[in-house]
Amino acid sequence: MTTPLQVRVPGDKSLSHRALIFAALATGRSRIRDVLQSADVHSTAGVLRALGVPVPPLGGDIVIDARGARAMRAPTTDLDCGNSGTTTRLMAGVAAGCAFRSRFIGDASLSKRPMRRVARPLVAMGARVELEAGDGLPMVIEGGALKSIAWSSETASAQIKSAILLAGVVGGVAVEVTEPSRSRDHTERMLRSLGARVKIDGTRVRIEPAGELAPLDMRVPADPSSAAFLIALAILSHSAPVSVPNVCLNPTRTGFFDVLRSMGAAVTIEEGSEQGGERTGAVHASHSELHGVAVDESQVPSMIDELPLLACTGARARGTTEIRGAAELRVKESDRIATVVSNLRAIGASAEELPDGLVVIGGIAPLRGRVVTHGDHRIAMAFGVLGALPGNEIEIDDPACVAVSYPAFWDDLARVTRTLLSR
Ligand code: S3P
Repeated sequence: MTTPLQVRVPGDKSLSHRALIFAALATGRSRIRDVLQSADVHSTAGVLRALGVPVPPLGGDIVIDARGARAMRAPTTDLDCGNSGTTTRLMAGVAAGCAFRSRFIGDASLSKRPMRRVARPLVAMGARVELEAGDGLPMVIEGGALKSIAWSSETASAQIKSAILLAGVVGGVAVEVTEPSRSRDHTERMLRSLGARVKIDGTRVRIEPAGELAPLDMRVPADPSSAAFLIALAILSHSAPVSVPNVCLNPTRTGFFDVLRSMGAAVTIEEGSEQGGERTGAVHASHSELHGVAVDESQVPSMIDELPLLACTGARARGTTEIRGAAELRVKESDRIATVVSNLRAIGASAEELPDGLVVIGGIAPLRGRVVTHGDHRIAMAFGVLGALPGNEIEIDDPACVAVSYPAFWDDLARVTRTLLSR
């Protein structure tokens, strides 16, 4: 058997945002290693600095000495969240519990994304929130004393859930959030590991008034959403197996690997240690003939960010791949249903939009053409994987947009492709 090619991918984006935010809310010295250094995480660091939190430059061993949310100061500038929905929505929860005014802004894509979904529960808790453009950004929050809330969210979204939980932590009040199905649960896990009382009952999460949060000591595991691209490449290319070590294997994040397996892919997981309340381990994958798959609403939250890649993978599988119950894709960094379908067609694959998903018919003909990413990092990388396969010729209009989550993506992809093909 060929020895697998080991490829490391950078730290998890969701965990990196949360590690910085919880270090800022804790009392004492937090230490965080392997934080993702990407544009989105820099946005969170920048917003925290604007609130007076001493966040050092990201990289290496990060040490943050914080004194809880009460030590945060009114910002003297707008809070620029760049392209990052996670920064905006999680920090909106923090700002709601702080007795000052914050104004959140972002780039053109983020400014169009729905913010009423976090504004509504924060207003119900007692914050004043103004959405200057109707929905989207700019968003002005006047925080202060908050009241307890039991919120039923219409959408399974970790960002909405986390905004409410963070408002509860900063406001010192109990909060309860119920979702239609379970979204990623990093916030709950981290809160628990820092001493908060968190109760989980199916899709309902409740936290009691948190008091002081203990400082964080954490190594951020690798991002399964970034690993997914190289795993898909290994499966689709007729070459050596790939192994990605130390990946966050939180079950609310690993749906893509499960679905790949149900398509016939040789994907195996080797459990490793636990890090900061999160399971980690290696993901191994090797070339496999895939057949199409049907993904429904219940599977969507655990692979929400991997759906563009699943659609691209489906374009190289036998038969039809159908994704339904994924209308949330329309309000991501781009309308990912429209973007994926129009780009698959542009390169010669067969795909169709559904109101809440899409259908792709797999094939083997070479795929050629130009992909318009609309600045969406996951679109660039998903089509980048197809472009790396022998016979395909795909140009990406804005390759630099990967800086949001995986700045070294093109270098890693080129290195892995070169090595795989030479074996
Ligand atoms: C994230 C939650 C998801 C995901 C995003 C990161 C998080 O968004 O798509 O990339 O870190 O909480 P939603 O909560 O809007 O589904």
